[in-house]
Amino acid sequence: MQPSSYFINLESQYGAHNYHPIPVVIEKAIGCEMWDVEGKKYLDFLSGYSAVNQGHCHPRIIDALKTQAEKLTLTSRAFYNNQLGEYEKYLTNLLGYDKLLPMNTGVEAVETAIKLARRWAYTIKGIAENKARIIVCEDNFHGRTSTVISFSTDHASHNKFGPYMPGFDIIPYNDLTALEKALENKDVAAFLVEPIQGEAGIIVPDEGFLSKAKALCANANVLLIADEIQTGLCRTGKMLCCDHDNVRPDLLVLGKALSGGTIPVSAVLADDEIMLTIKPGEHGSTFGGSPLASVVAVESIKVLIDEGMAENSEKMGAILRQGLNDMKSPFIEIVRGRGLMNAIVIKHKDPNAAWFLCESFMHNGLLAKPTHGDKIRLSPPLVIDEKKMKHALEIIEKSLHTLNNL
Ligand SMILES: Cc1ncc(COP(=O)(O)O)c(C=O)c1O
Repeated sequence: MQPSSYFINLESQYGAHNYHPIPVVIEKAIGCEMWDVEGKKYLDFLSGYSAVNQGHCHPRIIDALKTQAEKLTLTSRAFYNNQLGEYEKYLTNLLGYDKLLPMNTGVEAVETAIKLARRWAYTIKGIAENKARIIVCEDNFHGRTSTVISFSTDHASHNKFGPYMPGFDIIPYNDLTALEKALENKDVAAFLVEPIQGEAGIIVPDEGFLSKAKALCANANVLLIADEIQTGLCRTGKMLCCDHDNVRPDLLVLGKALSGGTIPVSAVLADDEIMLTIKPGEHGSTFGGSPLASVVAVESIKVLIDEGMAENSEKMGAILRQGLNDMKSPFIEIVRGRGLMNAIVIKHKDPNAAWFLCESFMHNGLLAKPTHGDKIRLSPPLVIDEKKMKHALEIIEKSLHTLNNL
């Protein structure tokens, strides 16, 4: 058996250096627990950036995956298959939209939503061709394609990847006045927003922000695109984060947990007026809507509902935030989040304190990763129970003490 260092060195030597992982090598995982190649057990507090909401290797999802994989995996959309329509019917009925467009990764679904919004702008709203604008927010994260990083304000994501795609107006997040002003431009087609900003460090907007944003957009005949790739599918204590505000976005973008962390599955949902502006041959994907993806997506959603994961997320999230606040640690500046989408902001003279803290978590049996320097996301799979949450809080408290030695 090879030690962790062997696998870390392999990746370092033969893989691109576009990530900086916590130095742990995982071999297997079930529910909210993971094991490294040396057999040490950890609590997973990242959930594959919220792709594994249902818990690792959920038996129902894995069963559905295996059964379908032995029958039919891919037809391409050149032919029909007997699973895609069932999936489309199930999810559109559940979420209340006319149609679904299936893709694979999250960023592809964001790209699809942008294309749909532009197409709608030219064919329905009547904006002159190539003039459509999309409003986005500072500190957004919508993925890594060259269009999407064109409107990223994160230096590392954006810098030296130009020339950039035009047509985006950037406003501060959670700023209705700025939104109202930006909407004065008659060429605006859509407002693209994360209901809670994930990568930025779990930034929760003010109560009512989304519903007011939706009203402003509706008034200006502008589409609201909600990127629920990270916030959706029970992560924040409701099926969709928009549900907290009773907001129905015009375009809903889903990904990550749509496959319970097995294969890349993403989707855009919208009504006919928007969706049918794209005609055969004008957009697509070889793997999007494969029978394998369709079966896995349906089972992944059913598992979330059948096992009450939204409710558990709400309950466990409250315990987590309470426990973190009760620690009264001088090193925790802020505890914030909703459901099981949470973060702590670290206060310490050493700018690398959050990284050291995550290493300390690792030594003590919990896995998490800093985002943007001083913030640590705490988002375990939604199957976590109270006993494991209490254990996690003990690990976090013990690890925080190590920051005294920095
Ligand atoms: C809100 C949001 N949008 C889009 C993406 C991109 O998804 P993917 O990495 O699957 O392309 C992410 C990934 O973290 C995300 O959090």
